[in-house]
Amino acid sequence: MSKTINVLFLAAEADPFVKVGGLGDVAGSLPRALRSLSNDDVKLDVRLVLPYHPVVKAEGLRPLGMFSMPRGDSEVGVEAFETTLNGMPVYFINGDPIRSNGSVYSLDAKLDAEKYSFFSLAALALQKQINWFADIVHANDWHTALSIYGSLSKRWEEGARHVAGVLTLHNLPFMGPDVSGIVENYGIKLAQTDLPEWARVMPLPLGLWASDAIVAVSPTYGTEILTQEYGCGLDEFLQLRRDTISGVLNGIDVDSFNPADDAALGMNFDINTLEKRTANKGLLQDKLGFARDPGIPLLAMVSRMDVQKGVDLAFAALKSMKSVNFQAIILGTGDPKLEEAARSLHELFPDKIKVELRYDAGLARQIYAGSDMLLMPSRYEPCGLSQMIAMRYGCVPIVRAAGGLNDTVKQNETGFVFEKAHHMSLMAAIKAGIKVFSKHEQWQKMQFAGMAQDFSWENSARKYLELYQSLVK
Ligand code: GLC
Repeated sequence: MSKTINVLFLAAEADPFVKVGGLGDVAGSLPRALRSLSNDDVKLDVRLVLPYHPVVKAEGLRPLGMFSMPRGDSEVGVEAFETTLNGMPVYFINGDPIRSNGSVYSLDAKLDAEKYSFFSLAALALQKQINWFADIVHANDWHTALSIYGSLSKRWEEGARHVAGVLTLHNLPFMGPDVSGIVENYGIKLAQTDLPEWARVMPLPLGLWASDAIVAVSPTYGTEILTQEYGCGLDEFLQLRRDTISGVLNGIDVDSFNPADDAALGMNFDINTLEKRTANKGLLQDKLGFARDPGIPLLAMVSRMDVQKGVDLAFAALKSMKSVNFQAIILGTGDPKLEEAARSLHELFPDKIKVELRYDAGLARQIYAGSDMLLMPSRYEPCGLSQMIAMRYGCVPIVRAAGGLNDTVKQNETGFVFEKAHHMSLMAAIKAGIKVFSKHEQWQKMQFAGMAQDFSWENSARKYLELYQSLVK
């Protein structure tokens, strides 16, 4: 008889219901990849639970009714819904703290503190309503980390059975606001932890402290977080937990990101028909108002406008390449200051640099398929997904040797890697890229090498499965 492992997988966002960034991609694809690993020996019953943000797009939700959780001297109502995604049960939690907060992530820390504390604890309480109980609570980032702390606390306070906690770290610097008052109101005590004092009231550190396993989204990030440079003040604490930390590289949804049948492209292609890719470059050049010329290197940035992503370094590098012949497209939204800097860059070089300050998934795909090089000069990058998508689409990445970029791009083989977070280092890498670009055969060899990489979820999901198995033994 096969053994079943029940996993309650919590996230703030998951594609296709609601997506803001990379977390949404991962939470949308990893749980399904895990379920499909079920075999004769082990059945993985992974179920996804999400907040019913007002912006969630989901049809045909079945109401599961209302229940309540004690809060302070009274109670708070929880409303739950259910749907399925390729056979996987997906639950949505609603309630006043979620309804009253319009966006997925608010600029008002207090609203988010209320929302995600409520969500993390209500998701635990949901289990009793559906009469299904997790062996493992798998949380992602600060938003859902309290579910692990809450689950441990229930075991202590109420003698509940052991439920293992797995916390995947997509972005350590975001630890969440002070939630001490809120969780105590839900009847959860804050323990005397060995966390630094400032961290004892924040969801992410509390979740890290309570988890049985911590997973960073790439092997390199798993070691970087132990250093002062990337550890955000938790490096010493994390060093003590070293044995429970691993790094598992994210995969990408290779069915959705497939140049051979991506509906957003003007011309589909694959590794055997790479010559067809040129049509996409021409279409992209037309669309962006560039001169149509396959011989000019077309550089691209598809990124949140954020200092994390090193967009300022890219702007400075492009600015200092006056005498070099290239075209560049910058796509993304974010920090108003960086958006402004992007606009002025375009004004400075109107024919050479185009800027589209919005989120546009279709245009992003056309850029992966039509541009020659993708710039990712990130100051830190826990994993990064764009560089993997780019390689799959024959676009060569130029990346800083940080986190997952370091684990996915091989210098001079599948892309160009530089060390120092400085625009001169990036510029040197771009120039090296342009030099190879001018040698047709050598360039194609790099494109082939990138397209031949396997970035599917399969291998990574298997590592999570092994981890789950070790935790329920
Ligand atoms: C965060 C990280 C990014 C990672 C993504 C998914 O957005 O910044 O590097 O790829 O999470 O794990």
